[in-house]
Amino acid sequence: MMETRSWDDSAALVQPAVCSVPPNRQQPDNRWLLAWNRRSFLELGSYKQAPGCARGHLRNVLAEWKLEQHDEIAQLIISELVTNSVLSVGARRWLARPPVRVWILGDASRVNLLVWDALPGAPQPRAAGPDEENGRGLFLVRELSAAWGSYLPPEAYHPAYAGGKVTWAIIGSGPAR
Ligand SMILES: Nc1ncnc2c1ncn2[C@@H]1O[C@H](COP(=O)(O)OP(=O)(O)OP(=O)(O)O)[C@@H](O)[C@H]1O
Ligand SMILES: [Mg+2]
Repeated sequence: MMETRSWDDSAALVQPAVCSVPPNRQQPDNRWLLAWNRRSFLELGSYKQAPGCARGHLRNVLAEWKLEQHDEIAQLIISELVTNSVLSVGARRWLARPPVRVWILGDASRVNLLVWDALPGAPQPRAAGPDEENGRGLFLVRELSAAWGSYLPPEAYHPAYAGGKVTWAIIGSGPAR
């Protein structure tokens, strides 16, 4: 039978590979990536099981890369970032619910965690009051990481979602990003 392609299939052919780290508009030459010679990618459905899946994957990767010294803090940070993405995606109505994507990058001593979701706004840490149960996730990320932030990939990264955004955190000390 002759192969037919739907519009979605042909769009996928001109998309950047899903497993590539989303480009940063501020650093279009992608040179910052050269510092990270170990890379792992995982795409997750944006559902409540995603943080647990991300933690399990991260543990295995850090063990393989002999960066287990960062395991505890990295687990906590990936949990916060993936949970935020899942909740933010889940709070919207979508024709097709977008996934959450995770990259784990490493060098000899550091780990860089990047989480992409389809919402283009930068995450806003908020000052949680003493009686508030929530609102401390990003505060923890900031305190436990060497550096953290977010960036907006070009819209072409995922036109259906205006590019979405990446939130990242580096664990361990070393040269700044
Ligand atoms: N990936 C994201 N996309 C959109 N908004 C986000 C994202 N991550 C965080 N935010 C916004 O930033 C706010 C602060 O996030 P933070 O993780 O610090 O607190 P929280 O998720 O509200 O509570 P907690 O993490 O303590 O359970 C969130 O309430 C949300 O409005
Ligand atoms: Mg949170």
